[in-house]
Amino acid sequence: MKMSFDEFYSDAYGSRWSELKKALVQPRQHVAYYNPYHKGLGPQGKQVLDGAYFLEGGFEPPQADSDGIYNYYLLDAASIIAAKALDAQAGEKVLDMCAAPGGKSIVLATGTPGIKLTSNDRSANRRNRLIKVFDNYLPKEVRDNIHITGHDSKTWCLYEKEAYDKILLDAPCSSERHLLETKIKDWKVGRTKRLSKEQFTMISSAGQVLKPNGLMVYSTCSISPHENDRVIEKFLKRNPHFSLQCKTYQLGEPTEFGHIILPDTCGWGPIYFSVLKKNGSS
Ligand SMILES: C[S@@+](CC[C@H](N)C(=O)[O-])C[C@H]1O[C@@H](n2cnc3c(N)ncnc32)[C@H](O)[C@@H]1O
Repeated sequence: MKMSFDEFYSDAYGSRWSELKKALVQPRQHVAYYNPYHKGLGPQGKQVLDGAYFLEGGFEPPQADSDGIYNYYLLDAASIIAAKALDAQAGEKVLDMCAAPGGKSIVLATGTPGIKLTSNDRSANRRNRLIKVFDNYLPKEVRDNIHITGHDSKTWCLYEKEAYDKILLDAPCSSERHLLETKIKDWKVGRTKRLSKEQFTMISSAGQVLKPNGLMVYSTCSISPHENDRVIEKFLKRNPHFSLQCKTYQLGEPTEFGHIILPDTCGWGPIYFSVLKKNGSS
């Protein structure tokens, strides 16, 4: 029997669904994530997270300094938490496998001086946006240390194995908030199931590309359990040498295999993420 969007998500969220749906159709909020490389005025507004500020009524568009470096990047506070969950450190080789337009890569690049970052995206158009973001936010000496690539993350493991200390896999997903704004009529349960298979192929590839003892963050902006906990559950079953790294975060709530930030409780998100450690050798 054909399942409607509301039936599917009511099944997943029970009585919470009506409030969650109301929150998902509210206008999106952004924080300004301040750029330490900008030579200009400091932060405005109320601090929400380290380096991230919120202003009632919203921020002006970002401004460049005399070197052409912009002052802040506007994004969802939940995205910052997901990027920082990778705990990237100076000198580490870090891969952002699905990086465009670049919000989480900017958090990694500006927050971790000395990071050896590779930002990848298969879409040429979106990669151009990524390049522009790096050019606008990073001084040349930092920008020159970032590699931008255009590979298919699903097959990356065929070319490189055990190569990165940390991997962020911010996978393409149902993005229900966007669907509700635009093309909810196109929704079919088959879409989330298909995406879940694609996400599983990506995470399986990422798992092989990660160095032993490395850390991986899998994230989506979907609220579908198929694309979140179910992907991680299946991955852990097939990859017992990985373990979940559980922590508490400033926003959101734990799930069975990760963490989710939902707008009905805090106004931010949705973002789901799971932090996984590769133990010993594969
Ligand atoms: C959720 S978006 C990433 C958002 C980004 N991490 C950010 O914070 O700005 C997912 C991205 O994955 C890219 N993508 C989709 N399939 C891919 C694949 N097979 N390999 C690499 N990138 C892919 C899309 O072009 C899209 O830009």
